[in-house]
Amino acid sequence: MINHEIKINFKEYASVEELEADDQQLCREAVKALANSHSPYSKFRVGVAMRLQSGKILYASNQENVAYPSGLCAERVALFHWGANHPDDPIETMAITAHTDEFQLTRPVTSCGACLQVLAEYEKKQGNAIKMLLYCQQGPVWVATGIESFLPFLFFEDRLNQ
Ligand code: THU
Repeated sequence: MINHEIKINFKEYASVEELEADDQQLCREAVKALANSHSPYSKFRVGVAMRLQSGKILYASNQENVAYPSGLCAERVALFHWGANHPDDPIETMAITAHTDEFQLTRPVTSCGACLQVLAEYEKKQGNAIKMLLYCQQGPVWVATGIESFLPFLFFEDRLNQ
């Protein structure tokens, strides 16, 4: 028996002011994206701002539906919008934040497995790891780069060819 261990690494900043200027700005853009969240069912707003290599910023938010499974997380709204409209302009950084009036969030929101799988697809497609800024407005910012920081055992394309 071999006991394998996988370590992941992420950085925690006590507040957004500790980030470099570009990343601070992107976190604040993610807050703006919360305004267009359509989340009448969960009352949980998620906002995303993605900075592309060109400097362009894309915005997205979670979009819910009365047929609950038809809704989509903010991250996949952002990533699919990028894939459909800007596939030749690589994603450098993605800032994600959340807000609810129901209680105070004290830790950043972390993306669901389905969103991480989509992130993996586009990282592979563009050939660059994406820096993720997980921003809690009343708490810390967690920063990690690349899908393998989040999902070390994801399904890799090479498995289809073995
Ligand atoms: N949600 C996101 O948009 N991103 C996440 O990382 C976690 C969850 C959305 C889905 C749903 O609209 C609401 O938050 C509650 O789960």
